[in-house]
Amino acid sequence: MKGLILSGGHGTRLRPITYSQQKQLIPVANKPILFYCIEDLINAGIHDIAIIVGPNKEQVIETVQSVEWNAKIAFICQDLPRGLAHAVKISEDFVKTDNFIMYLGDNLLKGGSVDFIRDFADSKVDASLLLTEVEDPRQYGVALVDEQKKIIVKLVEKPKNPPSNLSIVGIYGLTPRIFEAIDNIKPSWRGELEITDALHWLIENGYNVRYGMVQGWWKDTGRTEDILEANRLILDQIGTENSGIVESGTITGQVKIGKNTIIKGNSIIIGPVIIGHDCVISGSTIGPYTSIGDSSHIIESHISDSIVMEGGRIDHVDRVSDSLIGKNVTLKKQEPSKEGKSFVLGDGSQVTL
Ligand code: G1P
Repeated sequence: MKGLILSGGHGTRLRPITYSQQKQLIPVANKPILFYCIEDLINAGIHDIAIIVGPNKEQVIETVQSVEWNAKIAFICQDLPRGLAHAVKISEDFVKTDNFIMYLGDNLLKGGSVDFIRDFADSKVDASLLLTEVEDPRQYGVALVDEQKKIIVKLVEKPKNPPSNLSIVGIYGLTPRIFEAIDNIKPSWRGELEITDALHWLIENGYNVRYGMVQGWWKDTGRTEDILEANRLILDQIGTENSGIVESGTITGQVKIGKNTIIKGNSIIIGPVIIGHDCVISGSTIGPYTSIGDSSHIIESHISDSIVMEGGRIDHVDRVSDSLIGKNVTLKKQEPSKEGKSFVLGDGSQVTL
């Protein structure tokens, strides 16, 4: 079986971070979201993977190739975000006659999807979906199942009046039958070829489409609050490992500290927390639920429930929480002698004072 991971799209709901960074590369607990997907496929025994890339394709390719994977990884370019079914269509040469798992590169699942993938591999179905109950199904693809909860009878993408609260999770078990379905659908109102419509076509035409339910949690990391929630969920199981130097300070709970990182000035680290390598944490309180990227400096500051990406500098800032802070950002307390506040903010930045 093969794996197809989607890592395109503009990620507009994550502006301004996504002006410079592809959304699937945003780190959760100091690891790009995309890496969790690749690991998940490899853990399920899939070693032949293609990644669909779009905007920022060089960044995605370079980041993936910076790691040695136990898999062959190819890249397929999608010129414009023309929909998930379009991404599948342009992968026909890669998939050929094999069954495959399509994995949306911004989806995170607790414990991965190994059981779902194995069940699909052992079955003879034409497609298999993973579903979960959600509060607001209007944001997702929605499935209606029969009364015996055995088969899917209808699939609809982002409905105004959802027929159920069962959302389609972004991991799909597919067979080459999907190519015939895609050839028979038209672009949706948003101008995209929807995989949901192609799967609905399979159902309508008598093919066998099954489903499994998510065990544990699932996050589609489309918005800042989802990324921070995913960060909390992953950090909850981060474990403890200290490869840094604690000169002075107290550390409680699950805390991971990278190489050459120095904790000093009676800092307080309240897990779960991950701190990358080559950081300096001085006179600060970090955590809980905080990820600090490599080469960051946190000086006389207090930060919780946040992600600070690599090269961050937070200097004398009393309380930072619920924040997603991009690479090489400086947050600094104003000098007492200065009258006005001085900012250098990129397009779409959000600052609350
Ligand atoms: C896509 C699918 C949708 C699915 C969702 C899961 O939505 O179209 O059916 O429920 O992924 O993450 P999109 O991320 O394109 O809004």
